[in-house]
Amino acid sequence: MRHDHLITATQLSRDDIETVLDRAAEIADDPPERDAVLGLLFFEPSTRTKMSFDAAMKRLGGTTVDMGSVDSSSVKKGETLADTVRVVEGYADALVLRHPSEGAAKMASRFVDVPLVNAGDGAGQHPSQTLLDLYTIRENAGLDDLTVGIMGDLKYGRTVHSLASALTNFDARQHFISPESLQLPRSVRFDLHQEGAQVREHTDLEAILPELDVLYVTRIQRERFPDENEYRQVAGQYRITPETLEDAKDDLVLMHPLPRVDEISPEVDDLPQATYFEQAHNGVPVRMALLDMLLENAGVETGGDSR
Ligand code: NCD
Repeated sequence: MRHDHLITATQLSRDDIETVLDRAAEIADDPPERDAVLGLLFFEPSTRTKMSFDAAMKRLGGTTVDMGSVDSSSVKKGETLADTVRVVEGYADALVLRHPSEGAAKMASRFVDVPLVNAGDGAGQHPSQTLLDLYTIRENAGLDDLTVGIMGDLKYGRTVHSLASALTNFDARQHFISPESLQLPRSVRFDLHQEGAQVREHTDLEAILPELDVLYVTRIQRERFPDENEYRQVAGQYRITPETLEDAKDDLVLMHPLPRVDEISPEVDDLPQATYFEQAHNGVPVRMALLDMLLENAGVETGGDSR
């Protein structure tokens, strides 16, 4: 993979994806020494993404510097994103940025020379999540001849936008299941069409469920709704219970980027199809592989020779 920054899943070729996943599969047994500093810039809440990037950098032998919450940073004093990233690139060899505005990571990447990973830009993209999603799919179902259902908030869900686009590199039929008001944004649909993706849209899971190899459930992104009433109209519409899964394949791979609210009932957790905690754990090896490759491209030496 030869990219300076990771901003969107559309920049990833099949070869890029396979290279990261292959590296991730072996990295835990034989981690390279990458004594680098990773800057964590999270302008929105995060548990998994931030902690797994933190763990990944430390497991590579490096360390992290963390801006902390927006309330305790100079953002509170009115500092622009462009200034913040220019300052923090002086403290770190690579940056991870999560921000509520779509396009923020792309904009910020223009101001820095160190690699920058988009860890979520509003309702835009979340490409490192996609790499761990694909890793999980590959481990459990393989990445060929696949029927994937993606359900929930397809409009505001950035993990969906990135995953759908990356799946166009593989032989995957994609079924999108959502209320009408939360269907895929036009821009994402356009890109899928351009890539010749095999796509169908549904408002109901029932009819399509028996065909699925993978079901990727997402949270309704409450924080992105302009109107709380609109949220209430769609909240709780789709909920996976053990009964729902009676019609699914026995080896369905049930995924969720987490956090879940009420989309998957806790009774499902003990069923063999439940793969979401494994998926979350895959964040560490996949982000180790990603960081290792981005740092290598940026010329950060292995074995302790950081900037
Ligand atoms: C997702 C996100 O932040 O987009 N979480 C994550 O990174 N695993 C999904 C979500 O918040 O619903």
